Amino acid sequence: MTDQELVEKAFTMLEKAYIPYSHFPVGAALEGADGTVYTGCNVENAAYGSCICAERTALVKAVSEGCRSFRRLAVVGSGEDYCWPCGSCRQMLYEFAPDLEILVGRGDHQFVKYTLRELMPHGFGPAALG
Ligand code: THU
Repeated sequence: MTDQELVEKAFTMLEKAYIPYSHFPVGAALEGADGTVYTGCNVENAAYGSCICAERTALVKAVSEGCRSFRRLAVVGSGEDYCWPCGSCRQMLYEFAPDLEILVGRGDHQFVKYTLRELMPHGFGPAALG
């Protein structure tokens, strides 16, 4: 699958986003080491602190299905600006895949590519606990 195709998978999730509070849809597509793609969207809640981001939705779907190794993540929004992954999502992803490639998309379907290490230098991960 090309990078653009993974980005397009993330775009298909925008319509699934449950966003009655922010009205800000986010879609994600997380590619496991075996090529399986786990999708996600943001799911909000009346208790705002209980909202979950699209990337973490995809990650917990994957881990709960037994997948713990990942190659690429696409995360997209519908706005003019690139939809950067929040700090909590970077931290959750770092646990499993510090070298993850991250494709960050915006509403016109353009994307930029980074590694998670670039987005989160000196991250705290499992090795820190000895
Ligand atoms: N959001 C994500 O889904 N991923 C991010 O990395 C940034 C923020 C969602 C959470 C909330 O539903 C909405 O965007 C506005 O913050």
